[in-house]
Amino acid sequence: MKRIVIAGGSGFLGRALTAHFLERGYAITILTRSPKMPANGAREIAWDAHTVGDWARELEGAKAIINLVGRSVNCRYHERNRRLIMESRVRSTRAIGEAISVCKTPPPVWLNASTATIYRHTFGPAWDESGEIGWMPEARDEFSIEVATAWERTLNEMPTSGTRKIAMRAAMVLGTGENSVFPVMLRLTRFGLGGAMGNGKQFVSWVHEMDFCRAVEWLIAHDELSGTVNIASPNPITNAEMMRTFRDVCDMPIGLPATKWMLEIGAFFLRTEPELIIKSRRVISRRLPESGFTFRFPFLRQALEDLLARRRLNE
Ligand SMILES: NC(=O)c1ccc[n+]([C@@H]2O[C@H](COP(=O)([O-])OP(=O)(O)OC[C@H]3O[C@@H](n4cnc5c(N)ncnc54)[C@H](OP(=O)(O)O)[C@@H]3O)[C@@H](O)[C@H]2O)c1
Repeated sequence: MKRIVIAGGSGFLGRALTAHFLERGYAITILTRSPKMPANGAREIAWDAHTVGDWARELEGAKAIINLVGRSVNCRYHERNRRLIMESRVRSTRAIGEAISVCKTPPPVWLNASTATIYRHTFGPAWDESGEIGWMPEARDEFSIEVATAWERTLNEMPTSGTRKIAMRAAMVLGTGENSVFPVMLRLTRFGLGGAMGNGKQFVSWVHEMDFCRAVEWLIAHDELSGTVNIASPNPITNAEMMRTFRDVCDMPIGLPATKWMLEIGAFFLRTEPELIIKSRRVISRRLPESGFTFRFPFLRQALEDLLARRRLNE
């Protein structure tokens, strides 16, 4: 049976991918620091996310290894969180690279999470995979870019000659899972707080979870693809448009806007960073469509309507 190993597969994207690949007849092995007995038929194997151990045997003969490990970036960037955010990504990537390099039958492909946040803040044309790496002008520091570049550098440096490597620069993935941004935005909108954030002109790049999973499946199947691939819908929109679309699909006529200073204060109490909301992320993929991939949800309205309908089914 075809088998896929997912490191950090216990989180939001891991669960979405696990369900996607189980439905298609794959066996799934999840590497996690707290293994349980999942009801869905996946296997969970213990690892510490930074040293090569018995778990490395799971890579032998696997069809693919997908690494999604990363301490959430949705927190205040104080010293301890910065260390966890950076180390969880770099060390897990290094451990997987070392494990692959000693495999007798290594997985033919290694997909490692990265982020569309790596691209420079822009109101100009959308960045594709050749876009500029960089920051937003009024940012306090360059921490998220440092993390993203260190993460990708580690992936690129690992000597895994028999294994194709892909850095998945994913945009914000919208899904029904609780760790996704979608349920949070839905709650804000339903409380009448779904107005523009900041001046609302910043771009938001996004992708529906189904398209994220389909893109991962596509990247595994297409041997000619390696290196950096953006996973983002072809239609990023401004924050004001995104919030208007949320209000429309929720039939909510009012949405109080949040000015930049309100976001600063709100972010402090929500223990997150305002940069996550204010940076203009205008990112699309050139490589996926060029290789023949089509998005099932190219427009936000369709994506939100679908997610809302699926959420209602589960309520
Ligand atoms: N969700 C998005 O919209 C999005 C967009 C772009 C990029 N990404 C990236 O894609 C990856 C997966 O995202 P996600 O939303 O699925 O994240 P998630 O729900 O937070 O899951 C991440 C997983 O990483 C492991 N982890 C967390 N902190 C860790 C630490 N300190 N040390 C070692 N392992 C740790 C956890 O596994 P265990 O606790 O089971 O060990 C957790 O299940 C992340 O790296 C994220 O930055 C996500």
